[in-house]
Amino acid sequence: MKKVNIAVVGATGMVGAQIIEVLQERDFAFNNIYFYSSSRSAGTKIKFSGNTYETIELTEESFDKPIDIALFSAGGATSGHYAPVLVARGGIAIDNSSRFRMNPDVPLIVPEVNSDAITSHRGIIANPNCSTIQAMVALAPLHRAFGIRRIIYNTYQAVSGAGMAGIKDLQDGLKGMPPKNFPYPIADNVLPQVDIFTENGYTGEEMKMINETRKILGVPDMKVTATCVRVPVSNGHSESINVEFENIFDIEDIEKVLRDASGVVLQNDVSKGYPMAITASGTDSVYIGRVRRDESIENGINMWVTADNLRKGAATNAVQIAELVCKM
Ligand code: A2P
Repeated sequence: MKKVNIAVVGATGMVGAQIIEVLQERDFAFNNIYFYSSSRSAGTKIKFSGNTYETIELTEESFDKPIDIALFSAGGATSGHYAPVLVARGGIAIDNSSRFRMNPDVPLIVPEVNSDAITSHRGIIANPNCSTIQAMVALAPLHRAFGIRRIIYNTYQAVSGAGMAGIKDLQDGLKGMPPKNFPYPIADNVLPQVDIFTENGYTGEEMKMINETRKILGVPDMKVTATCVRVPVSNGHSESINVEFENIFDIEDIEKVLRDASGVVLQNDVSKGYPMAITASGTDSVYIGRVRRDESIENGINMWVTADNLRKGAATNAVQIAELVCKM
């Protein structure tokens, strides 16, 4: 793999911290590495591969340095402003925000699913939404094998998906304090709202799952619907997914496809347990269990899919994309 100059933008955030961990775990080959934050936390010390670095305030001059790849996880506004600045200077932005995901010139990549699409990039490569990534790792191999006709997502999403502020709301709420990030208390509660409401009554998160699924699977009119729910779990998103297929299948064939799928751990023997946020958290796999026929339709299944939203849902996927870029 090529050795590159790499930057982590949003290095002091929840996803940024995971990116820093994953880069080290995967022994990512680099020449120079730079860590950026806002002015609020510039100067924060970061330990990386035996050295101590300080975060630098992100400005347009940040990319005067020769940076080959920057991993952005500092919100859509920051990506929207600074990713094009990096690209204009010849760098490649791997963006965790939703800012560029639906742009037709921007590949939306889950390496286990559509790594080939990366070659069409023009400087910006988007990391899909956390809930979409784990669903795609589970569904893409099934789509290839049996042809998906319709998907119904119901999510159970951890507070870490809302960054430090989300974690703090849960911790404060458990002490009886009011929320600052979520519109209502999350402790001892579930909120049928992730992101803001859009004009059609769906939330931003629900529309991301719908639109990103269509883009990644390459089926622009695929029937997909979603209800996204925030639950008082620190880390690890779970999803109940109902899938209707074009073709008939045996449930054993579904299990075989999932057992062989890249990035998947099939935990479908309930006598040994099932996927849970607490066991998925801290790992990079997508765990699938409770796979069973939907007896209300001809060719359908229900399944339960859990993954670490900060790792496979964000940091690990972004670092895998960076690895693909280095191989190009
Ligand atoms: P900072 O720590 O200086 O606020 P999270 O969503 O987990 O809270 O993390 C958000 C990350 O994005 C943090 O590292 C935060 O830095 C960074 N960030 C937010 N706004 C900007 C900005 N305008 N420029 C650079 N980094 C930003």
